Amino acid sequence: MQRTTLISQPFDMIVFGGRGDLARRKLIPALYHLAREQRLPDDGRIIAVSRGAMERDAFVKMMHDDCITHSGNGADDTQFDEASWARFAERLTYIGIDATDAKSYGALIDLLKGREDVVRSFYLATAPDLFGPIAANLKALNLVTPASRLVLEKPLGKDLASAHEINAAVARAFSEPQTYRIDHYLGKETVQNLMVLRFANALFEPLWNRTHIDHVQISVAETVGVGGRWRYYNESGALRDMVQNHLLQLICLTAMEPPSTLDADMIRDEKLKVLRALHPVQADEVAAATVRGQYRAGTVDGNAVPGYLEESDADSRSDTETFVAIKIGIDNWRWAGVPFYIRTGKRLPQRSSEIVVQFKTPPHSPYPASAGTIHPNKLVMRLQPDEGIRLIMLNKGRGPGELKLRQTALDLSFAETFGGRSPDAYERLLLDVIRGRPALFMRLDELEAAWRWTDGILQGWSDTGLAPKPYAAGSWGPNAAIALIERDGRTWHEDDI
Ligand SMILES: NC(=O)c1ccc[n+]([C@@H]2O[C@H](COP(=O)([O-])OP(=O)(O)OC[C@H]3O[C@@H](n4cnc5c(N)ncnc54)[C@H](OP(=O)(O)O)[C@@H]3O)[C@@H](O)[C@H]2O)c1
Repeated sequence: MQRTTLISQPFDMIVFGGRGDLARRKLIPALYHLAREQRLPDDGRIIAVSRGAMERDAFVKMMHDDCITHSGNGADDTQFDEASWARFAERLTYIGIDATDAKSYGALIDLLKGREDVVRSFYLATAPDLFGPIAANLKALNLVTPASRLVLEKPLGKDLASAHEINAAVARAFSEPQTYRIDHYLGKETVQNLMVLRFANALFEPLWNRTHIDHVQISVAETVGVGGRWRYYNESGALRDMVQNHLLQLICLTAMEPPSTLDADMIRDEKLKVLRALHPVQADEVAAATVRGQYRAGTVDGNAVPGYLEESDADSRSDTETFVAIKIGIDNWRWAGVPFYIRTGKRLPQRSSEIVVQFKTPPHSPYPASAGTIHPNKLVMRLQPDEGIRLIMLNKGRGPGELKLRQTALDLSFAETFGGRSPDAYERLLLDVIRGRPALFMRLDELEAAWRWTDGILQGWSDTGLAPKPYAAGSWGPNAAIALIERDGRTWHEDDI
């Protein structure tokens, strides 16, 4: 286990929505792991805020049980450990506040008194319509110090106009450098490794362009449906929920130019250039470049599951998409003519996220047809499960007989190579908030550029009335998603090598 204290500066982290689902499954377990690995300073408090009174002991017990549930129980160092928990629990406080009511903040004001110089992070794990009111109350009550930070969860709006409104409201209390917009995909180890792979190795970058790359695929597949959150999901759909943030961020990291330093703004400037170069997909192109899908009843992991319109709380007339596939162009010198095919959806056959960079086939083959097909090389970066990298290439099949070409993979599994527990994305992101490193958080101009492009598709769908096509739960989406890539003479990657 790592035992390095990385930061010495005291901090207070105030989590609004501190006993909500996100806090219980992700934030508190992530902070526990950071504390257990001695990455947090001794003087660091975590103050959970929700409406309603709750005894501290009851809150601590609830978090204890959640941390056990969400800490994994595989290898030795992933197990929950009571001694570390007891030390961690001393940091925890719970206060009941209605965050919309400035008069109810008394207990928080008292707790923060005398700690104005301490790094103060307000983490808003609440619905986004509370972001503006909470920020306004914090400012009015003089709780926003120069050392304060504001962390915002998604969804940051449902289009450019609403995103603008939310951000304008919080900007009245917090400056842009104080604002940390979370996209938890950026905290994933494999996603950060994408930059290391590209910019710390000489091997790939010379080939990373339209001359050598045929196309890129990004798939983020979930087996789950909408759980008990039908109403919430139905307001958003796959494009807003997954593409506008996570998938566009993955495109940015795959397509960006090398930054000259790791300075947060250098990296974000390069990502912004990619977002601004995304080819707009509007009414005249949506039918050809996008596929919307909605799952029907089917079988996932051997279990029969209901269709989207039959889930509890569902409105059977909904035309929200639970699947989307898009062919995206990047209008710049490096990527002109190289399509990025992306797809994401719920109730797909397996939970997996990967980026596949497919290189061009060699221009000439000296091998006879009997040797087999010359398949192109692929670099596959797996985000989940089994984080790792595979380089798929052709080799000679063994034996003195007729020469046979065999597709094989150089396979790097992060678990096998680096061992130990793979930290959750929130661990890295929370630590970065505390130590004031904004590189992995979205800047306002990035967010707005992502919404501007997404709005074009939403408008196109609305103008053309493009309805979601049905797909059976447990399939890879509507047939149209397969046709989207196959009519270009390409296929979705299947990990069968
Ligand atoms: N859950 C996830 O995995 C996840 C992932 C990414 C993003 N998010 C986003 O994160 C946010 C929170 O999600 P969640 O799933 O944790 O939601 P949730 O389970 O509904 O939790 C919301 C929390 O906000 C609190 N709250 C509501 N109104 C409040 C008020 N006026 N004053 C103080 N506290 C208030 C609730 O507490 P009381 O009702 O007890 O007051 C509860 O603790 C949402 O915007 C969601 O979209 C969630």
